[in-house]
Amino acid sequence: MSREAQEVAWPHLGKEIFVANWKMNGSLAFVEAYGARLLEQHSTISKKACVVVCSPTPYLKTLRDAVQGAVFLGSQNTATAQSGAFTGEMSANMAADIGCRYGLVGHSERRRLYHENDTIVVEKALRLVEAGVVPILCIGETEEQREMNETAEVLHQQLRHISSLGPTSGLIVAYEPVWAIGTGKTPTPDNVQKTHRIIYEILEEHGLCNVPLLYGGSVTATNAGDFLALKEVQGVLVGGASLKTDEFLQIIQCLDKISQASVHCSLDQ
Ligand code: 13P
Repeated sequence: MSREAQEVAWPHLGKEIFVANWKMNGSLAFVEAYGARLLEQHSTISKKACVVVCSPTPYLKTLRDAVQGAVFLGSQNTATAQSGAFTGEMSANMAADIGCRYGLVGHSERRRLYHENDTIVVEKALRLVEAGVVPILCIGETEEQREMNETAEVLHQQLRHISSLGPTSGLIVAYEPVWAIGTGKTPTPDNVQKTHRIIYEILEEHGLCNVPLLYGGSVTATNAGDFLALKEVQGVLVGGASLKTDEFLQIIQCLDKISQASVHCSLDQ
């Protein structure tokens, strides 16, 4: 794929990526107000930022209409199947049809609560890629795994099928330690740096280079700058703090305070 084609397919290329994951929160009135605020504040968003909002499925179209292209839409979950008798599911094609350019897969809540394993996760990612949607694949260890020093092994496991996506999927990987999600606890920036280096190595073993890595887990307007300042971090995946429009905007504005905003891949860069 040419660089021009890549830039069209993957709007995040060379940018810092800010993903809001609302999870199962919000209402029609909330979406309308949130979207209107993002649109109103659009001019304050740095050109170096790629902003994606993953609202609950029923609100995607309302959000799309409200933001009028000011930010990108992302799905929170899509099916492994393309269509058919799968009650309650949304296909990757439907997500694309409604305007999603990005889609979350492998979130720890889906893994834990809905028993999604690595095979299912990569299947879902493949469907997204086929539909022209960029997968944001979430990985991360539990508290127990961390205490047992198993983080690297867990990340290896979670990424073991990743080469089937191929080098032209536009894939984004989000490192979200499970113990940091919704807890107010975060790894130190030093820890994130080390873990992201391990993830780069694993991705390179699978022939995947230039994969942007996001950090997620209790990101707030107060700590986002510390993570974004690392050259190993190309963006953040934000849960709770993204439900407050102004805090999410403040997180994006952290970018103005740091000097680098480019995508890095190999360790020697
Ligand atoms: P919190 O930011 O609420 O910790 O959630 C992180 C997350 O799970 C985003 O996908």
